[in-house]
Amino acid sequence: MEEHQRILAVDDAPDNLTLLERMLKRQGFDVLKASSGKECLALSASEHPDLIVLDVAMPVMNGFETLKYLKANEITKDIPVIILTANSKDAKSIEEGFSLGADEYLTKPIDQDELIARVRSILRVVKAEREVEQLKADFQSMLVHDLRSPLSVIIGVLQLGARGDLDRNPSERKEFMHSALETSQRMLGLINDILDVAKIEAGKIQINKQPNDLNAIIGGAVGRLKLLAREKEINLRVEQTEDIMICECDSGKIDQVVTNLLSNAIKFTPNNGEIVIRIYRQAFGEETAGLKGEYIALDVSDTGVGISMEELPLIFDRYRQAKNAKGTAHKGTGLGLTIVKRISEAHGGRVFVESSLGKGTKFTVLIPDGVKD
Ligand SMILES: Nc1ncnc2c1ncn2[C@@H]1O[C@H](COP(=O)(O)OP(=O)(O)OP(=O)(O)O)[C@@H](O)[C@H]1O
Ligand SMILES: [Mg+2]
Repeated sequence: MEEHQRILAVDDAPDNLTLLERMLKRQGFDVLKASSGKECLALSASEHPDLIVLDVAMPVMNGFETLKYLKANEITKDIPVIILTANSKDAKSIEEGFSLGADEYLTKPIDQDELIARVRSILRVVKAEREVEQLKADFQSMLVHDLRSPLSVIIGVLQLGARGDLDRNPSERKEFMHSALETSQRMLGLINDILDVAKIEAGKIQINKQPNDLNAIIGGAVGRLKLLAREKEINLRVEQTEDIMICECDSGKIDQVVTNLLSNAIKFTPNNGEIVIRIYRQAFGEETAGLKGEYIALDVSDTGVGISMEELPLIFDRYRQAKNAKGTAHKGTGLGLTIVKRISEAHGGRVFVESSLGKGTKFTVLIPDGVKD
């Protein structure tokens, strides 16, 4: 794919331009050339290249001015730009370049490997950003569908009730009421998830810490979900190292963490599998991966479908659902783990995941103990 990406090289010196072109073409990029700022602006707008390599020292309109115009134009403002400066010690011009919106800088003489490495890394970032945009768009259309279809179920039931059609058969009425109730609850859950993520992203997540018994919170979540596990004949076990495990935390938020992890484990574990929840203390004397001191750890392990190595770093991203789940029909919006991660971090904690495709997955949440004794 990268082979067909187009890069616009801009330099007033013909030799430099040829050199740039050669370096980029050798790596399979298509190259457009401009020998002035003005030409760069025209080509950027008409051809919309994937990236611009822009020399700073040019007569008439220098690279900075060109950059300013590029960023001011709606059509060209999102094209990433690498600026080329003549002097590596010229910190001021590098800073100016960044403040005008450059993505990277390189100093002359250009090192081929460095140029290619920067070009590729920027193109990768841009690609990832576009993917998230696409996911968001897909998500929005899915959301409309996911909210509309349950609502029509509810309206259908209410219409029957309003017409008096349910009056004669009490057991049928009960059945309809149950399905409308269940559907409404699912809708509410979805709306709550969306609101949570929106709040979290606006930085408005509020954690009200109180001493809470983690065992009790987990017990509550397990109680609500054990029926789902039983339906799939999944053996669900809780292992506690202490009878009472007091932790400074927001009980509602931690409940969300446990509920999300457990419902994922149930969802992604085939019939007759096993899920184990473990609660134990863990201390870090030396700082390890940003963790130090006393923590309470919560493991949720399952013998489910697992997550591939490639997808593992992505699952905490919002709207992200791993591809391996294709085989196992499941519904979801890909928000659960985003919420888990943000809540854990808002408590000063962390979440980790280990997984092996086809074998199972283990999520570990660490929450600072926080209780002074
Ligand atoms: N225990 C697990 N085993 C295997 N895959 C998992 C597990 N937990 C999460 N995943 C993968 O990570 C993805 C993201 O999980 P997340 O909880 O964020 O979303 P979801 O469960 O698909 O939807 P939602 O939780 O919003 O209803 C899932 O779609 C799935 O592919
Ligand atoms: Mg989930």
